[in-house]
Amino acid sequence: MKIAIIGTGYVGLTTAVVLSYLNHDVAAVDKDESKLTLLHEGKSPIHEPGIQNLLDEVWHTIRFTPSVAEVVPEAELILIAVGTPPKKSGEADTRHVEQAAREVAQVCLPDRHYTLVVKSTVPIGTNQRVVEVVEDVFSARGIRGNISVASNPEFLQEGLALQGAFYPDRIVVGANSDEAIDTLRRLYQPILEQTFDPPSEFPRPPSYHLPPMMTTDPNSAEMIKYAANTFLALKISFINEIAGLCEEVDADVTEVARGIGLDARIGQQFLRAGLGWGGSCYPKDTAALLGVAAQSGYKMPITEAARTVNFRQRERIVEKLRGTLGTLKGKSIGILGLAFKPNTDDVREAPALDIIRELLAEGAIVRAHDPIAIPNAQAALPGKDDTIPELQFTEDVYELSYDADALVLVTEWDFYHKLELRRLAKQMKTPILIDGRNVYSPEEARTAGFHYIGVGRI
Ligand code: UDX
Repeated sequence: MKIAIIGTGYVGLTTAVVLSYLNHDVAAVDKDESKLTLLHEGKSPIHEPGIQNLLDEVWHTIRFTPSVAEVVPEAELILIAVGTPPKKSGEADTRHVEQAAREVAQVCLPDRHYTLVVKSTVPIGTNQRVVEVVEDVFSARGIRGNISVASNPEFLQEGLALQGAFYPDRIVVGANSDEAIDTLRRLYQPILEQTFDPPSEFPRPPSYHLPPMMTTDPNSAEMIKYAANTFLALKISFINEIAGLCEEVDADVTEVARGIGLDARIGQQFLRAGLGWGGSCYPKDTAALLGVAAQSGYKMPITEAARTVNFRQRERIVEKLRGTLGTLKGKSIGILGLAFKPNTDDVREAPALDIIRELLAEGAIVRAHDPIAIPNAQAALPGKDDTIPELQFTEDVYELSYDADALVLVTEWDFYHKLELRRLAKQMKTPILIDGRNVYSPEEARTAGFHYIGVGRI
């Protein structure tokens, strides 16, 4: 199938590479020249496990271009995967989605049928708005164009994007037209029937079952995306709230999570207590959902509480530091991990950034490490070009621990599991380890010489 994808961010590029691997004829449009330059050289602008290798394989088949007009007229299906950044009010800004729809409607041919699919995460009612935008352009052009609009929310998890794209739990399509549903069913047929040869890096999981394609109306599809993310966000916040109480009553939240997760109705996943969620989705999507609710005067106390608990986790970690060190002024604190989660260089809404800002505000000296996210963190924090002596970044964890008053593990990179704890503890001024993700066993850390403090653990 001939496809045009508008936007080459995490969602757009992953989709482009996977659909091309599945033998669709893919063109990817982006206005960002720096991204296009990289893509023209065959380099992925995003860091995502496996994406560069897969891009190497399919690169010669994908056309990367800044021009909608160059690829849309010939396409059968157009996917919009542009950003929907938060407005000041928290609501998602759909300007780029509407602009993309406008550009598509301006160049599509009057005698052809197109399916226009919104993959970006958008407020409820956006698909309907896209229909209106398209119709307005058609009437301005004086044509009776033929575009079916559909919602196809994306459930991509950073760090696991390709695995999730080849082996999704479900595909959700919201459309009022049978033609659009049929086109999307043909698009996803190799995934729905698992007829493709898996890439060597992404073998089919042995227990994987064929995914359902759920069809519904566009508003419900849009709501599914927000409800799914908000539910996962509140599941994490729930276990973090329990973790705080575990600390008060000498219980171990990792044991509690295991115990409740064995109930099939609850499930083991997303019950890891710690510093809570960051990233480009949960903070933004929970705020956007509250924004949608506020427009109708509807209250969502559970969603509000999930956010409050989440951001309190960051403050609680700094409180733990104060609790052990007294004043933080002049204290040297090592931060392990800057990315919002492992296997990505993404620092959007990362807990590390808030913690570092707070430590600096209290006069601490911060040295921070991350396997790959240092450049992005430098750009987001003061201290770029080493202009702030109180904030240093280092690629050497052992150097960071030298003479430090405390270490705070913020991101659970595999790399940190393998550190020589004894060596780290020995080098520090005071061997305090605040494990913000419960990565280490308390016994192991204490045996290595640390004063160990986890989240919700004895
Ligand atoms: C999420 C959704 O999983 C995905 O379906 C949606 O499309 C986009 O938002 P992502 O933000 O990439 O994906 O990451 P995810 O793996 O869900 O983790 C989000 C945050 O929650 C991370 O900061 C992670 O550290 C944290 N988390 C996750 C926990 O604190 N505890 C857990 O048990 C799980």
